[in-house]
Amino acid sequence: MDHFQYIDGELHAEEIPIGRLAAEVGTPFFCYSTATLERHYRVFADAVSSLDASVCYAVKANSNIAVIATLARLGAGADVVSGGELTRALAAGVAPSDIVFSGVGKTAEELGAALRAGVTRINVESEPELDLLSGVASSLGATAEISLRINPDVDARTHEKITTGKSENKFGIDIDLAREVYRKAAGLPGLKVVGVAVHIGSQLVDLAPYREAYGRTVEFVGILREDGHVIDHLDLGGGLGITYGDEVAPSPAEYGAMVSEVVGNSGCSVTFEPGRVITGNAGILVSRVLFVKEGTAKRFCIVDGAMNDLIRPTLYNAHHEIVPVQAPRDGVSMSAMDIVGPICESGDYIAQDRDMPPVAAGDLLAVRSAGAYGAVMASTYNTRPLAPEVLVSGADYSVVRRRFDVDDQLGLEAFPEWLSGELPIRAGGAG
Ligand code: LLP
Repeated sequence: MDHFQYIDGELHAEEIPIGRLAAEVGTPFFCYSTATLERHYRVFADAVSSLDASVCYAVKANSNIAVIATLARLGAGADVVSGGELTRALAAGVAPSDIVFSGVGKTAEELGAALRAGVTRINVESEPELDLLSGVASSLGATAEISLRINPDVDARTHEKITTGKSENKFGIDIDLAREVYRKAAGLPGLKVVGVAVHIGSQLVDLAPYREAYGRTVEFVGILREDGHVIDHLDLGGGLGITYGDEVAPSPAEYGAMVSEVVGNSGCSVTFEPGRVITGNAGILVSRVLFVKEGTAKRFCIVDGAMNDLIRPTLYNAHHEIVPVQAPRDGVSMSAMDIVGPICESGDYIAQDRDMPPVAAGDLLAVRSAGAYGAVMASTYNTRPLAPEVLVSGADYSVVRRRFDVDDQLGLEAFPEWLSGELPIRAGGAG
């Protein structure tokens, strides 16, 4: 359930008409709903409350500090995968003791920053990372509490680019090799091995692969304990899917019940790292129609949002619902069109062959389910601004990231000394 609904024929975010936001903020822009974020977090936290659980929101899904702070206020921790995300989580007020640090390629600087900040746990994904972390921790006189992320070789049955738990994926340590790595970890200075981590992919709409992966993980905990390790923690990652179109995703309650069944008797506390299920349907991308172009083969609806704002359709063939901000009249006929952006690539589309009500230049369209992996994956390709982000709460809204415009972009660039003085324009403005 989300809080983007039509009221008197116009799409609203909670109590605010989207047309008003578009007029005040400009298009394209991302719009997030506080009530939806809160609801999704609470539903997930309730679903796992029978376990000794911590919910560490996967910041990568939507790392705006206002979004992180909204969730932190409800008790969410954070799962971070870079020094940058760690800085964001801390800036948003997440306690270091509620932060886990995951990721396949952490640097010595990032590991050092995490240890100095006092993050609760680091999920180590390889033997060389183990050596690096041991060295960094020892030099700081710290002890890093760690889990090793195992790769259980389970097919998550999701898009190939977001499956992570097969042995051919770069993530984690093959379950067949992990026993040896645990033995090594136990002997290294500066490390305290406390748990096992697993994450098999994202946008899972089937519980069976989870059940298999978690089952293998619990079995593996038994083996580790026989080897003499004290394992009292499991990190079960994220990945729970959401409904973008007509797929039926398991509810958090169904997921929580499955987890309790599989790991409930393991004697372990459990960390969850949900991202998309919290923020995905809590955000939309609002664009304005620039032109409707009739071709011989297709009709194109050219909007001012593009693949640089939302890359999911072209990168993963992802489906996002697109709705007009002004509700169409009852009974209007639908017709197929491609909804495309202004970028100079045929891959720049938000939807292809999509049945839409009549659209005209100037209309506003809302792309749904854009709260996760939308703004965070945006770029400035074609020197387009980064779209602003707006957070709504009831009848209030705030621009929580302003538009990163062309001046901002040119402000980061410079002419080398050998060119300066010869050019008619200067960096920082073409005027
Ligand atoms: N934990 C780990 C270790 C992860 O790698 C991820 C996601 C998560 C948690 C959160 O997964 P979620 O609950 O959001 O599914 N850009 C892609 C998704 C990439 C996910 C990467 N890892 C997309 O737009 O579908």
